[in-house]
Order: sequence, then structure tokens, then C-alpha cells
Amino acid sequence: MASTAKGKVCVTGASGFIASWLVKRLLESGYHVLGTVRDPGNQKKVGHLWDLEGAKERLQLVRADLLQEGSFDDAVMACEGVFHTASPIVTKSDSKACQTLEEMLNAAINGTLNVLRSCKKNPSLKRVVLTSSSSTVRIKDEADLPPNVLLDETSWSSIDYCESLQIWYAVAKILAEKAAWEFAKEHKIDLVTILPTFVIGPNLSPELGPTASDVLGLFQGL
Ligand SMILES: NC(=O)c1ccc[n+]([C@@H]2O[C@H](COP(=O)([O-])OP(=O)(O)OC[C@H]3O[C@@H](n4cnc5c(N)ncnc54)[C@H](OP(=O)(O)O)[C@@H]3O)[C@@H](O)[C@H]2O)c1
Repeated sequence: MASTAKGKVCVTGASGFIASWLVKRLLESGYHVLGTVRDPGNQKKVGHLWDLEGAKERLQLVRADLLQEGSFDDAVMACEGVFHTASPIVTKSDSKACQTLEEMLNAAINGTLNVLRSCKKNPSLKRVVLTSSSSTVRIKDEADLPPNVLLDETSWSSIDYCESLQIWYAVAKILAEKAAWEFAKEHKIDLVTILPTFVIGPNLSPELGPTASDVLGLFQGL
């Protein structure tokens, strides 16, 4: 049931697995949601969003790409809060060529900075919530991370260790989150980071996205 009308918030990568749930919850709570997607005309990817309660009245989908500087300007300018969930896929199998890997890491870091640069241009923006990953804090050599140690805001995974294991997703998320904190401090942006572990559950979209497929892959052979 929709509650009383609230302000407008932006969700980047609105068609993604986590973002779709976020859009649903925000609409149910009465927010106007401005979702960014790479192709608003792709019904296979966005159709389920239009079926959500409140979508016809309070959802707007606009085109934006992490790789294009300024792409998020218009979306972010209209909002009081931003949930940044869009993220390029960086997996071992994708990183066949070093240049490709470099490009992917660059997309993760500069993509996040692109969104924050747009946020910086909006003086009435109250908060940015960045979906990072638990892989930014929990991956270290066992010698450096004894069992049951409490991880907190000062904890970071070891980039060297992630690189040695070729966990490029973690490398991308660590570098992107570090860059985001630096930028937010410099430009006084109120930033909150969320560090999910593995997230899976009912899929709002009929299509299984790449991250959800990867997570489900962990269960194969059990
Ligand atoms: N699911 C998990 O278990 C998990 C765990 C920890 C952290 N996270 C983080 O949570 C966030 C959401 O994850 P998810 O599982 O919901 O991912 P997802 O379903 O794969 O969604 C990712 C979204 O990012 C968008 N995207 C990719 N490249 C883009 C680009 N160049 N420009 C604009 N958008 C782009 C995709 O848009 P298209 O639809 O156009 O491809 C898609 O909507 C990510 O930051 C992920 O790293 C997820």
C-alpha cells in the first residue's frame, strides 16, 4: 500500500536485481522514483518496473550510462537522494585481455565518479547511498584476517591478495568505493555505503541478470 507522497529519489541501474526491489519499496513508501537505465525502450529489461504499484504515477525512467561523463546530470539534478546501484560486471571470464580488464576497472571507478560528479552539481541533494560490496572488506590472506575478527569502517580487503587470486570484481569494488569516499569528502557529499554479501531471492524481472546468475552459480553442484 502506498503511504503519503514523499520527495523524488534517483536509483541508478534501476532494472538490476537489487535496484528493482529498491524501486518497488520506494514506490510503496510514496516516493517519486527517477530510475536510470541504459535502454528505457528495452521492455525485456524494464517491463517489470512498469508493473509495480505506483509506477504509472510516480516512476520515470531515463537513459544514462556509467561510461558517459555527465550522463546522470539531469536525473540527479531533479532528486533529493541518490541510490547508486549500477555497476559493470567484472568477472574472471570477462578479463581475457589485460586491456579489457583495465577498461572494466576504469568503468567501475570512473562510472561511480561520474555519478558523484553529477551529485556534486545538485546543491539540494541530501544523501548518496552507494551499493558497494562485502568483498571490499572481507578478502585478505588468512594470516592478516584471523577468524571471527570484527570488520568495521576501517577495514579494507587487500588489493594485492585479490589481484593474486584474480578476483577482479572485488578489485573494482574496492577501488570504486575508495574513490567515492575520497570524492565525497573533498566535495562534502553525505555518502553512505552499503556492503551486501550475496543477495538472492525472488526476481522481479522475468530475466535473470548477470549478478543473480553468478550468485545462483555458487549453489550448483551442492
Ligand atoms: N547481488 C549481489 O549478491 C550483490 C552483492 C554485493 C554487492 N552487490 C552490488 O549491488 C549492486 C547491484 O547488484 P545487482 O545484483 O542488483 O546487479 P545486476 O542485477 O547485475 O544489476 C546491475 C545494473 O547495473 C547496470 N549497468 C551495468 N553497466 C552499466 C553501465 N555501463 N551504465 C549504466 N548501468 C550499467 C545494469 O544495467 P543494464 O540492465 O543496462 O545491463 C544493471 O541494471 C551492484 O553495485 C553490485 O556490485 C550485489
